[in-house]
Amino acid sequence: MSGETKRIAVIPGDGIGPEVIREAVQTLELLRDTHGVQLQFEHFDWSADRYLRDGTSLPDGVLTMLAENFDAILAGAFGDPRVPSNQHAEDILLGMRRGLDLYINLRPVRLFHNDLTPLRNRTTEEIDFVVFRENTEGAYCGAGGFLRKGTAVEIATQEELNTRAGVERIIVAAFEYARQHNRRRVTMADKSNVQRFGGDLWQRVFKEVSARYPEIEARHQYVDAMTMFMVLDPAQYDVIVTNNLFGDILTDLGAALQGGLGMAASGNIHPGRTSLFEPVHGSAPPLAGKNVANPVGAILTAAMMLEYLDYGRASRALEDAVRYTVEQRQTTSDLGGSLSTADVGKRIRERISSAKSE
Ligand code: NAD
Ligand code: IPM
Ligand code: MN
Repeated sequence: MSGETKRIAVIPGDGIGPEVIREAVQTLELLRDTHGVQLQFEHFDWSADRYLRDGTSLPDGVLTMLAENFDAILAGAFGDPRVPSNQHAEDILLGMRRGLDLYINLRPVRLFHNDLTPLRNRTTEEIDFVVFRENTEGAYCGAGGFLRKGTAVEIATQEELNTRAGVERIIVAAFEYARQHNRRRVTMADKSNVQRFGGDLWQRVFKEVSARYPEIEARHQYVDAMTMFMVLDPAQYDVIVTNNLFGDILTDLGAALQGGLGMAASGNIHPGRTSLFEPVHGSAPPLAGKNVANPVGAILTAAMMLEYLDYGRASRALEDAVRYTVEQRQTTSDLGGSLSTADVGKRIRERISSAKSE
């Protein structure tokens, strides 16, 4: 464990973001006392409120500031019905993913308790895989345009960008992860039977990279079939690698397998650089301000951030405390419980403290 204090930029964002991030930060603060985690937080108000107030989404120059002054970023969610264009969310979230070159969107799909999954008779051993979602290009490149907009003969094009370097680095990251974590299989999902050009590139690079990892089984599935198999037989997956859009869709399905969006964590990572950690869920406007949102996704996201910052022991203590509270049915209503957002956070912190003194 490193002795120096790590600097964390906290961006709570919109909707339920501030409520769940408050619990995550308080839990990290407790770990300072119990597990010697040395973090220093600085909060930033980039959000729909700020955007509506003064037109600022992601202020000029902050990407360099974040990269130079912070070890990691912890964010809530971005999206607000008062900003129908979603412009601020795109500027802030996609701006950081692209601008900081966070090419790995790592989204674990891990069931914490058998009772949480909507699938019949599935256990924690059977739902345990990670998705490597390409995070800087694909359908998220913003290329495209309109011809004759607003007319009956309008044409809209929406392009998808696949670069050789971008495809290779995410596939390499997936295989490296598999090797380091003793995962035996990497499955690549695409739609190469229809998307002939991008799909062809992904197929060729996957084949080439997989040859460097002979001990790991390399397998391909079409993404439509994968959505079916994720429901029918999730145990077959160890590591999934896919493009930006398919990864977005697959990981909401993955979140459902774990008990819902309230349980899912993610990291937007460029190894060795300032990386961004955020729950998979969005701002959930219907739940905002009611103290009912499940903070576990945000808290498990904090655990991922700790792991990234080399605080592995604290990260596991945090996950153990989450597992314990879920087993004790100390949950919000999305998991069948009756606790508030703040109470779930409190129970998790109480468990960290009591487990530590056991
Ligand atoms: P969402 O993830 O916000 O919510 C969908 C539904 O999932 C909610 O209505 C709720 O029933 C449930 N849910 C989500 N998080 C929960 C939690 N912590 N606890 C309990 N239940 C939870 O998705 P949406 O409704 O499609 O999008 C709402 C807004 O969020 C949109 O503006 C969207 O663009 C944005 N969004 C942002 C991010 C992000 O910032 N990373 C991710 C997804 C969506
Ligand atoms: C996610 C979200 C974002 C995405 C949106 C809000 C831009 O759905 O983080 O999964 O599509 O990546
Ligand atoms: Mn999504």
